[in-house]
Order: sequence, then C-alpha cells, then structure tokens
Amino acid sequence: GYAWADVASLEPEAAAARVRVRGAAQAVRAVGRRVAFLVLRQGSATVQCVVSGGAGGGMARFAAGLSRESVVDVAGVVSLPREPVRGTTQQLVEIQVEKLHCVSRAVSNLPISVEDAARSEEDVARAKAAGEQRAHVGQDKRLDNRVIDLRTAANQAIFRVQCQVENVFRQVLLSEGFVGIHTPKLLGGSSEGGASVFKLDYNGQPACLAQSPQLHKQMAVCGGFERVFLVGPVFRAESSYTNRHLCEFVGLDAEMALRDHYSEVCDVVDRLFVAMFDHLNKNCAKELEAIQRQFPFKPLKYLKTTLRLDYNEGIRMLQEAGVDVDPMGDLNTEAEKKLGELVRDKYDTEFYMLCRYPSAVRPFYTMPCPDDPRYSCSFDVFVRGEEIISGAQRVHDPELLTAQAEARGIDVATIATYIDAFRYGAPPHGGFGVGLERVVMLFCGLGNIRKTSLFPRDPNRLAP
Ligand code: 4AD
Repeated sequence: GYAWADVASLEPEAAAARVRVRGAAQAVRAVGRRVAFLVLRQGSATVQCVVSGGAGGGMARFAAGLSRESVVDVAGVVSLPREPVRGTTQQLVEIQVEKLHCVSRAVSNLPISVEDAARSEEDVARAKAAGEQRAHVGQDKRLDNRVIDLRTAANQAIFRVQCQVENVFRQVLLSEGFVGIHTPKLLGGSSEGGASVFKLDYNGQPACLAQSPQLHKQMAVCGGFERVFLVGPVFRAESSYTNRHLCEFVGLDAEMALRDHYSEVCDVVDRLFVAMFDHLNKNCAKELEAIQRQFPFKPLKYLKTTLRLDYNEGIRMLQEAGVDVDPMGDLNTEAEKKLGELVRDKYDTEFYMLCRYPSAVRPFYTMPCPDDPRYSCSFDVFVRGEEIISGAQRVHDPELLTAQAEARGIDVATIATYIDAFRYGAPPHGGFGVGLERVVMLFCGLGNIRKTSLFPRDPNRLAP
C-alpha cells in the first residue's frame, strides 16, 4: 500500500517510502517515448515525479498528455535524485511513479497560466525591454481568472499572512478581555453618514448594507459587554476607482468602555499591532519571502511603543515642508503620504498614530475634546503613509449625539433606536475599525488592495 503524503512533507528522510500524493500538474515534459517528468504542486510546494515504464511506455505517454493544472493522483516510491531538481520546492527528492490517475482534467487552453501569473514585475519589465513576444498578464486578466491566479506562490502566501493578521487580532483582544460578537449587516439607515451606502429594499422598507458595525458595536457596550470585537464584511458604495478602496472589505472592529480617556483605545491599538507585526515577522518569514520574490518590498519599520503625534504637530510638519494644508480640514491622500515620509525621516517609523483630529472632519458620533470642542477625541493610524485604522471616543450623551447628527444633515429618525440606547445608562466608551485588506497590503507594500482581497469587489467588479 501507499500512504497519503503532503508534497511539502517530502524530504530526504522519506526516501524509499511508498507514498500517494494528489496535486496539480504544473508542468509535464516527455523525454523520448518511455519517460516523462511531471511537476506536481500542492499549495505552494512542488515535487518532481518520474514516470517511466508501464507496458510499452503507456504511462509516460499518458503523463505527457496531461493538460497543465489537471488534478492528478500519483503513487510511487520516494527517491533521491542525483542532483537537486531545479524549479521545484522539494528539490532533494523525487517520486518514482508506479501508478498515475487523473482525478480532474483541466481544459488544455487555460485562460492564463500560473507561470505567467507568478512572474515578478521586474521580470516582466526586463522581458519587455528585451522585446519578448509573450504577452504580460495584467491585473484585470488575473482577477478575471482569480481561481488560477490564486495558485501562485505569492498569492498562497498573501492569504496565509491575512489569516494570521485576523488570528492575532482575535488572540490579542481575547487575552485583553474582549468578547467576540456579530452585528447585523442589514440596516435601516447609514451607520457612517455620508453617501457611500448600498441601498436595498427590505420587505418594502428602505434599508441599506452596513457601512460599518459602528452603531451596533457601541450598543453592545451599552448592553453590558465592556469590551467587544468583531470581524466581518463592510460595504461601501465607493464610486471612485482607487488602489485602496473596495466596495466590500473585511472590517476588524473593537469597542470598549473607557475609564478616563480615549488614549486607553490607543494603548490597545499599540499593543495589538506591535504584537501583530512581531508575529508576522517571526512566524510568517517563509510567506513574506514568497511575496517578496514576486513583489519586492522592504520590511516595515515600527517602534516597540507606537509614536502618537498630535494632529496640529502633523500640520506643522507639513507646513514646514512647504505643503499647503488647511489646519482645520482633513488631510488628502497626498498630504498623508508626505506626512508619512516626514515622520519616517524624523522618528524612524512607518507606523504611527495621528491624534486629536478637528471635529468637523470626523463622523457625527465622535466625542469633542472637553478642553476645546473644535478638536475631537479621535485618531487615525498610518502604515507607510496610508490609513489602516480610524478610532475615537464616542458621544454617549443622547442630546449631544442628536445635535451632532442633525448638524451633519443625518435624518435622526433612521437611527432612533441607536440614540435611544444612550438614554438607559451608557458608559463612556470608544473603539476603532481596521481594514483587513489594507493591513496586509501596507505591511507587505503591495500597492494595490485588489492583491489582498481573495475575490475583490470594486466599482467595476462584481465577478468572479
Ligand atoms: O475610517 P473608517 O470609515 O472608520 C469607520 O468605519 C469607523 N466606524 C471605525 C471606528 O471604529 N471609529 O473605516 C475604518 C477602516 C479604515 O481605516 C480603512 O482601513 C478601512 O476601514 N476602509 C476601507 N478599506 C477598503 N476599502 C474601503 N472602501 C475602505 N474604507 C475604509
């Protein structure tokens, strides 16, 4: 008999073992009529299988005729090649095939090849400069054929890193006494104000998809849960096509009762993200290398205690650098990027918090600063000059909340039950929201959020 084995576990110690492996036929090459080499891939591990013998070389011919990406079962003996097998991850072993079975045949004219999808941008540029004829597979074509595109080593790694980001988020918050919850994604009104809502009909009643779990995570704190977190889909009817906006993304949210000050929220963010970056560097080194091979990036610079910069100080730094910014307005993308560079040069970090934003540029539920209500108890967090988190203390006084909502033109009738939640005794509280795809994109310097969404939804894309 043959024992099932994973390709990644095939090492020289397995020599002479009789194994059964299932994988995708990444490459096939016939040598004469009686021998074929088949590179089998499982996840991002690959191994060479040597197909020879069989009556009159029948098995070798069958192997040579396999279409690329077909799923194949191979049974045979692990052997040690004379030289490391180039182009495979398990270079020190191969499988001498005794049985071969095609489980699922792929079409012979694949829309894209995994090999092309896996080419680094440098490699493509070099080949283009050398006048190579092979067409470059652009991002849209890769996304159209995402099922094949996902098979590249870099993509296999990106989504393993993403899984770890989510995992660390849960683990750290659980260890700090937060309770995991779920909130409804069907709402009777917008949760962030603003226009970017997907409207729908809820059995004859106007409704929309949640732009965030904001209102219900706050209500959960009012419901007696001191500290809550959740991971779930967030919907934004973004109309502009950018590198960092999706119409559906994964939100990592937390909300907590406060003792004295919103900086307690910043403390949690600080511990959480330093732990997360440490974890990724330590435990995902292989994945980060695989990503780097296709998409080169420099490791993120961050401090053991995260820098907290006052908004006014940020404005001052930008003005000193000759950037024209409105001290009471919001920073545009360009100014944020520039400030990221100034902070990196001055403080040697690419991860920092910007605190005390002007109230006018924050959502209606944001708490004004007690000493100066033109500013708010709020913050954004930046990685490589781009926003990954926004957070704040919330207004827990129903009258002030109503006034702030009305001042922004929000129909308070649509959020009446939310405002009522603060009439029954509500603790001071605050929290933050993170975009999962942004964290992975910016930690890995990937430059486009579509790379970190399994099946992205942007203004132009609703399939696959
Ligand atoms: O800044 P946002 O809109 O804040 C909120 O939703 C608040 N309720 C959070 C809070 O607790 N105060 O969104 C939070 C994060 C952003 O920092 C960004 O990382 C991400 O969500 N994000 C997006 N990611 C991808 N595509 C989009 N269209 C995004 N919009 C926001």
